[in-house]
Amino acid sequence: MAFLEVRQLEKSFDALPVLRGVSFTVERGDVIAVIGSSGSGKSTLLRCLIGLETVDSGTVTIDGETFIPEGQSPDPRRRKALAGRMGMVFQNFNLFPHMTVRQNLLEPYRMTTPGAADGEEKCRRLLEKVGLLDKADVYPSKLSGGQKQRVAIARALMKSPEIMLFDEPTSALDPLLTGEVLSIMRRLAEEHMTMLVVTHEMSFAQEAASRVLFMKDGCIAEEGPPSEIFTRPRQPETAAFLGSVSRR
Ligand SMILES: Nc1ncnc2c1ncn2[C@@H]1O[C@H](COP(=O)(O)OP(=O)(O)OP(=O)(O)O)[C@@H](O)[C@H]1O
Ligand SMILES: [Mg+2]
Repeated sequence: MAFLEVRQLEKSFDALPVLRGVSFTVERGDVIAVIGSSGSGKSTLLRCLIGLETVDSGTVTIDGETFIPEGQSPDPRRRKALAGRMGMVFQNFNLFPHMTVRQNLLEPYRMTTPGAADGEEKCRRLLEKVGLLDKADVYPSKLSGGQKQRVAIARALMKSPEIMLFDEPTSALDPLLTGEVLSIMRRLAEEHMTMLVVTHEMSFAQEAASRVLFMKDGCIAEEGPPSEIFTRPRQPETAAFLGSVSRR
């Protein structure tokens, strides 16, 4: 059995079907790039995985433990257990503006892990990892976009997630700042972090991903290693999408 198994996820917003039977598996240490045009359901997929949205049906199984029973929304306890094994990084960082960098890491950790004594030490180690230990007592408004995103990555790593979800982590950043965020993500990948990355950075997908999922209209239209998807896509929709991205 695969480390993460997603089976037949269905999700509608009112009458609009957004995920229409999404199934895939992920092995430990895989870096999965999720690509596809706007509105294809990429963000919704990640949000459903981490429990920010309820699903209409389908299952998510991690390491043999099923979190969303077939045909049911996750109950709060199960959702929390699922979320506890994943960290998520958003396009717009979502840092708490009224907290320092250190508090941004420590406060959510204290909420989800009451009584844990290792918060300060973890916070220090992770800020060091993303190269921002010197910014620990600074407020987010004093940081560049790339620095904010590196703080957001460190914050997501606080709970020692087994899977990291990234939703277009660099699309709010200019190319220079994009590079510093991607290099941290590459380092995580080298450390065998299991990652699902929604991205428009095709070069990152090509170099760093072990597999690429191409989403279209709420379905996975094609999946495969980057060497295949980018050079000889099987589906005409994939070829058309890649053509449109490369012309941008
Ligand atoms: N909370 C919501 N309420 C209603 N409709 C929603 C909601 N969230 C997303 N949708 C709709 O679901 C569809 C898929 O949205 P989603 O954000 O998952 O797409 P996406 O692939 O991430 O697109 P993008 O590349 O633009 O980020 C869109 O039609 C969107 O309008
Ligand atoms: Mg999106």
